[in-house]
Amino acid sequence: MGHESTSQPLHPTRIDLPAEERQHIIAILNRTLASTLDLKTQVKQAHWNVKGMDFYQLHELFDELASELDEFVDLFAERVTALGGLALGTARVAAAESTLPEYPFDIWDGKDHITALADRYAPYAKLLRDNIHITDDLGDADTADLYTEVSREIDKRLWFLEAHLQGAASSVPKAAVKSNGKTSVAAAKANGKTTTAKSKKAKAK
Ligand SMILES: [Fe+2]
Repeated sequence: MGHESTSQPLHPTRIDLPAEERQHIIAILNRTLASTLDLKTQVKQAHWNVKGMDFYQLHELFDELASELDEFVDLFAERVTALGGLALGTARVAAAESTLPEYPFDIWDGKDHITALADRYAPYAKLLRDNIHITDDLGDADTADLYTEVSREIDKRLWFLEAHLQGAASSVPKAAVKSNGKTSVAAAKANGKTTTAKSKKAKAK
């Protein structure tokens, strides 16, 4: 499939980007399109099947993520056609070309769905970031800008997903807590009672 997509003939266009570069960029965009479509269906899978006490908010969140991915599907497909290429956006192409792992069918709990989605958003985010540089190097600042726009949004969504899994204690390495603790004790000792009183006031606020 990958070889077929790179050898697609270009439609005649007045766009000023050289044909050879456009062929390369179109192949990259079509591979992204496949992974984006795949990710969108995986998010829908989570939207339909999530269970547990957080059902409703996760059901809603997953639908929001899927709608957003649908918009990105359209942006990538239409950049392909703007460059004179053939957008390859069927479910069969998506299944064959996506770089993401298949979604697990034996999970129900919200936390497991969040984890499975974060495990897919992370490599998808990396794919986007890599393609910012690749398409920029190929001389297509507009496609690089598209990748930048989507990449920034996917980073935000990865944060949304991971925020469900992170706790205050688990997110701070133990070593950092220890050294910070020592530093603040030392600082308090050096500054005397005033610092302690100030920090107590701040805490009370
Ligand atoms: Fe729905």
